[in-house]
Amino acid sequence: ASQRKFFVGGNFKMNGSMKLIKEIVDQINAANLDGSTEVIVAPPALYLLQVQEMLKKPVEVSAQNCFTEVSGAFTGEISPNQLKDANVHWVILGHSERRSLFGDTDKLVADKVAAALKADLKIIACIGETLEEREKGVTMQVVERQLDAIAGEVKEADWKDIVIAYEPVWAIGTGKVATVEQAQEVHKDIRQWLSKRVSSAVAESTRIIYGGSVNAKNCGELAGPPDIDGFLVGGASLKPEFLDICKVQH
Ligand code: G3P
Repeated sequence: ASQRKFFVGGNFKMNGSMKLIKEIVDQINAANLDGSTEVIVAPPALYLLQVQEMLKKPVEVSAQNCFTEVSGAFTGEISPNQLKDANVHWVILGHSERRSLFGDTDKLVADKVAAALKADLKIIACIGETLEEREKGVTMQVVERQLDAIAGEVKEADWKDIVIAYEPVWAIGTGKVATVEQAQEVHKDIRQWLSKRVSSAVAESTRIIYGGSVNAKNCGELAGPPDIDGFLVGGASLKPEFLDICKVQH
């Protein structure tokens, strides 16, 4: 077994309301998670402080995005320094929805990673190929290109603050989960890539989590392979089954 601590993140995306989010947090608190898995929830920015205040340890909150600058005339954005100021220690960067809908290029994601590290945030860095790219057989090229941009901004000592989320775009919100073999194959390749590009120590210690239609039914099997260190959960994180995923045997 690896020394890596299993990690489960709940990405609420742009879902929820004051009422629903309170219900979800009440359920998480009532579950009395023992801390054997690191659990993070990422509500919409509007609710971050409310959730942070309500959540019992050891669960922490994460933002779903941040900008590259410390402050200034950037209407609608939140800076990594403001997250840090508000005691929000985590941020998701490079999510495929940001990449496909909001213009987060590899370069912008890399700049956000650099800014977030500078503000001492921890990062869930998302990568993954589209269906077309998988069918063309270029999955690893795409994933390596995305990783390479990020790695250019991360010093070896800072990899401890990064969790890599492999989220194949075709599996996100589609109910079409990757097979255990498909996920493990890419996770293993990512770890090998880390070993070559960064160091074997970083490859051994960095968590690589899977995202894309994870639910209570499929999480047990997906938690099995040696290179899958947890999950980033979308839809199911809004439901009570999120707790089954947080408690999965690994
Ligand atoms: O970030 C999590 C995500 O994109 C997966 O979403 O709804 O397929 O679990 P979902």
